[in-house]
Amino acid sequence: MTSRPAPDPVFAFELNGETVTVSAPAHHTLLELLRYRQGLTGTKQGCDKGDCGACTVLLDGSPVLSCLTLAVTVAGRAVTTIEGLGAEHRRAEGRPHPVQEAFDRSGALQCGFCQPGMLLSSAALLRKNPSPTADEVRAALSGNLCRCTGYAQIIEAVLRAAAVERGEDPPAPAWSIEPRDEEP
Ligand code: FES
Ligand code: FES
Repeated sequence: MTSRPAPDPVFAFELNGETVTVSAPAHHTLLELLRYRQGLTGTKQGCDKGDCGACTVLLDGSPVLSCLTLAVTVAGRAVTTIEGLGAEHRRAEGRPHPVQEAFDRSGALQCGFCQPGMLLSSAALLRKNPSPTADEVRAALSGNLCRCTGYAQIIEAVLRAAAVERGEDPPAPAWSIEPRDEEP
C-alpha cells in the first residue's frame, strides 16, 4: 500500500490590503506563491538565492527577500508587493507613491528589473525615517542591486521623495526629462 502525500497547507494572510486564503506546498517560497499562484509578477525573480534584492516585498511593513521566505510563514501577516504600493496611494491620494514619482522624475531606472525591490525598500525607509541622509539611503538599499543605473539617480530619487513628503521643494534632478533648448 502506498501512502498519499500530505495535502498542501492552507493558510490566510493579508496581501496588498485584502485577506486571501491560499494553499501552497510547504517548500514553496513567498516569491513562488506571489508570482505563480497569485499572478503578481511585479515581484521579480532574479538570483533566487538572496543576493540581488529584486524579489523584495514588505512583510508587516519591513523589507524581506521573498525568495528566502517560506510562503507558509506569512500566515496571519501582511504582505505588500509593488502592485499594492502604487494602488494604496492611488486609492488614498489619487497619485502613485512618492518614491514612484521621484524615481520617474529623477530618471532612476533603465531596464527596470530592480525597481520593484528598490521602491519597496525606499518606501519602508521613508516610513521609518522621513529625513534620511544619503548614507542612510545607501545603507537601506544596500541589499538591492542595480546593474544599469550606477545608483546616483536612485539615491537622488529617494532624497527627492523624502523632501516632497516633508512638504519641501526638492532639489532639481541632476538628470532632467524636460526638453532642452535647441543648440544655436
Ligand atoms: S531573487 Fe531574491 S535576492 Fe535575488
Ligand atoms: S534599472 Fe536595470 S537593474 Fe536596475
